Amino acid sequence: MAVEVLTTADGRAKTALSHRHAATWFAAREAGETIPVGTANPPLRPARPEKPELLDPRDVPRRRPGSPAGRIAILHAVAHIELNAVDLHWDIIARFGDVPMPPGFYDDWVKSADEESKHFNLICDCLENMGSFYGALPAHTGMWRAAEDTAEDILGRLAVVPMVLEARGLDVTPGMIEIFEKAGETDTIEALKVIYAEEVGHVAYGSKWFHFLCGRFDKDPKDVFHELVRKYFHGALKPPFNEEKRADAGLPPDFYWPLADQTPAKGR
Ligand SMILES: [Fe+2]
Ligand SMILES: [Fe+2]
Repeated sequence: MAVEVLTTADGRAKTALSHRHAATWFAAREAGETIPVGTANPPLRPARPEKPELLDPRDVPRRRPGSPAGRIAILHAVAHIELNAVDLHWDIIARFGDVPMPPGFYDDWVKSADEESKHFNLICDCLENMGSFYGALPAHTGMWRAAEDTAEDILGRLAVVPMVLEARGLDVTPGMIEIFEKAGETDTIEALKVIYAEEVGHVAYGSKWFHFLCGRFDKDPKDVFHELVRKYFHGALKPPFNEEKRADAGLPPDFYWPLADQTPAKGR
């Protein structure tokens, strides 16, 4: 099921399939069964639509957030992140089938993938209401690089994807909501609030399973986190951090502050 989602290119089709497979999984769980997880051969890169054009993060043009074009650019970037997130959650299920994990691990990532699929569609609807669509602008390849870099290291994957990248979403989403509040775009504000609320859970699942695996190997989670983020994440973490939501998600300050870029914002 995970590989089927990963190998479907179109965003609406990928997310429809993702919803369908999540429903199948949870129907089985509610019936007291667990669908055997087995092993699979997920593609190193998931299938993606022809558009958007994928550029190096440095080559993606920046737009002023105050203008309608700037707001479309923000939503386009969010839609791209959500689509990557759908693939990332199915990928962790398919990629690490050789690491024995309890059924709750799969419950959490199937639920996350289901939610990301909803997020993608919500943001696509907003883009379409604004006269644009996902694929209208270029997007960047940065997120999937994290997946490729950690394709053989489940702890590295948990550290970099939910605990760094998705936690970063918690830092930046309130500012985005503010931009759309200034513009009075009610539908988008609602969509971003749904995303903001549900993303806390994804970070929390990352932290939970990271700690679980560190316990299995009798390792100190904080030290391992620092080691793996330095190994796999390119660059320092960017403050300001949303300390409150990070704490809600089980991510204490002594995990992320030692990895932060401490130079003043002006010099960056
Ligand atoms: Fe999301
Ligand atoms: Fe997420």
